[in-house]
Amino acid sequence: MSVKGVILVSVMVAMMAVMVKIYPNYPTGRMGVLFYYCTSSHQVRKEMNATKESLASLPVSPSTPVTFVIHGFTESSIRSWVISLTDALLAHDSKSVVILVDYWDLTTISRPYMMGNVRHIAGVTAHLIDLLVEEKGVRLANVHVIGFSLGGRISGLVGERIQTGTLGRITGIDASYPWLPPRTNSEFLDAGDADLVVNIRTSPVGSHSPPGHIDFYANGGLSQPGCQRWYFPEKVEQICSHYRAVWLMVEAVEHAGQGVFPACRCPDWESFQDHQCDCQIVNNFGLFPNSSILGNFFFSTHSVSPYSKPL
Ligand SMILES: *[C@@H]1O[C@H](CO)[C@@H](O)[C@H](O)[C@H]1NC(C)=O
Ligand SMILES: *[C@@H]1O[C@H](CO)[C@@H](O)[C@H](O)[C@H]1NC(C)=O
Repeated sequence: MSVKGVILVSVMVAMMAVMVKIYPNYPTGRMGVLFYYCTSSHQVRKEMNATKESLASLPVSPSTPVTFVIHGFTESSIRSWVISLTDALLAHDSKSVVILVDYWDLTTISRPYMMGNVRHIAGVTAHLIDLLVEEKGVRLANVHVIGFSLGGRISGLVGERIQTGTLGRITGIDASYPWLPPRTNSEFLDAGDADLVVNIRTSPVGSHSPPGHIDFYANGGLSQPGCQRWYFPEKVEQICSHYRAVWLMVEAVEHAGQGVFPACRCPDWESFQDHQCDCQIVNNFGLFPNSSILGNFFFSTHSVSPYSKPL
């Protein structure tokens, strides 16, 4: 191929990459951490800022449950799983408020600055939670932060940075640390970051994160059924398994309180598969895990939705 040909092909590949990878996530073109709140009384999300003035119009009272949803690397708050999860959370509790954290512009392009930006995103989000407590009387016990992938890691940093007390709950959805090995233990999402830290693990992408109070391993936590195809390179299989985690969460919230995703307490996946655990101690992955039984819980799923399977 001529030099011109190589350049032309490279430009076309780069444009395809932009269209396939970046455009669907619809960047706002605004640097910074953006917040949107959603309630069941209006279909459209509303923008808000982490300021006193912005909180004045937020429809929350001290008893309102508030859930934060933090997306992952290269994602934004208009990802379909974020929307499905928000809808499910509001359908489950019509008095609750969901706050979406959007930081697309801070990590997708400026990878060299990612770690600094991740700390910044966590700091602003923690500040917003402190303002909710101080200005609106929101109880930290009613605040639940849900973060996927890099967002799971950010959730841990948020819990750590809150000044007004201890966060009620964090759910880390295959929380991971892409290219950013934590420098200190405090940079991980771990059991110290909230009163209840629950993890769901589905892929090797999230396998380095330390234990929370309750750790659910879907299908062993490394590879998900339906993600193994002969034409899938290993990396694609891992990414497929990683994204499965958000859909397990969506299904768990859509069927909250209905006993979906029963999981056995077990030392490891092999013992679970070999029926070595007597499954005396069962917990359910989702909105209502039993917080008096902690440890590692294993469950298997179907390869397509609905994923939940009886034990
Ligand atoms: C949030 O802050 C931005 C930038 O300062 C401003 O343009 C926007 O109007 C603010 N939004 C709200 C809802 O206060
Ligand atoms: C939680 O688990 C404990 C210990 O197994 C059990 O006694 C209790 O009934 C469970 N709570 C719920 C709500 O299932």
